[in-house]
Amino acid sequence: MSSVFSNQLLNDILDQVRPLMGKGSVADYIPALANVSPHQLGIAVNTAEGETFMAGDSQTRFSIQSISKVLSLTLAMTRYEENEIWSRVGKEPSGLPFNSLIQIEMEKGIPRNPFINAGAIIIADMLQTRLSAPRQRMLEFVRQLACEPDIGYDIDVARSELENSSRNAAIAFLMKSFGNFENNVLTVLENYFHYCSLSMNCVELARCFSYLTSQGISSCSTVPIITPLQSRQINALMMTCGMYDGSGEFAFRIGMPGKSGVGGGIICVVPNQFSVAVWAPELDSAGNSLVGCAALELLSKRIGRSVF
Ligand code: DON
Repeated sequence: MSSVFSNQLLNDILDQVRPLMGKGSVADYIPALANVSPHQLGIAVNTAEGETFMAGDSQTRFSIQSISKVLSLTLAMTRYEENEIWSRVGKEPSGLPFNSLIQIEMEKGIPRNPFINAGAIIIADMLQTRLSAPRQRMLEFVRQLACEPDIGYDIDVARSELENSSRNAAIAFLMKSFGNFENNVLTVLENYFHYCSLSMNCVELARCFSYLTSQGISSCSTVPIITPLQSRQINALMMTCGMYDGSGEFAFRIGMPGKSGVGGGIICVVPNQFSVAVWAPELDSAGNSLVGCAALELLSKRIGRSVF
């Protein structure tokens, strides 16, 4: 089957959305991210058949930030039974900013979903409980998924987050006060910041997430990473919760399960078809890449594909 994708198509899409640059703003609450040049734009597609297409700054690494929340949940799913995870974190969209505290107080320390900061900190706590060297294991896991042995943490970003961690620390301590925390808060936060600081490019991200395109089987390995049901569950959570309080708008405009990060990256998946990663550092008011969302919307229109 000849592919609907081509490097030319991706180049055209980037050319069309480039005029939107300047309309968003780079995340500045993490000083190390405030220094990233906003004039960068990349896209890469990995098809279920194993082809790769790319355009723009698709081979420049950036901080994947909250995209890592999908990877840490996936790793947790390989170590925990279903009820052990979902008794500690919910599966509902929060309708609030990704670092909000108020729901945690109202809902007694159980975060709405694993893709807001509170939920990902719970997942990091769970990884700390079951893994002897969680940071090293996460690195090995991501390197395996992306077939790229030199993916690493951006230590400057991790340190910058730790130095500005009041809000995430407040979230973690509030959950601990409700008894929903097992380990030392500082240790878990340090792990969480490292996961967020993973540095990858669009090509690596699109390949890394091929396991969600192919029912849990990564294009880099014949051994299933997770079960087909777990893969479906993660895609469902990405669809409903992956873009924070912009999730409804994103589903409406783009129609694919997606996960964003404040580094300006977004990963999207259409099961059995392709994964696509975009990167443009300027964010909209919900914390999602403004130009990235526009590029994904145009892509889904141009190829006539979505999950609906
Ligand atoms: O903890 C934080 O606030 C960041 N390390 C991650 C936030 C993030 O990426 C939200 N995504 N749009």
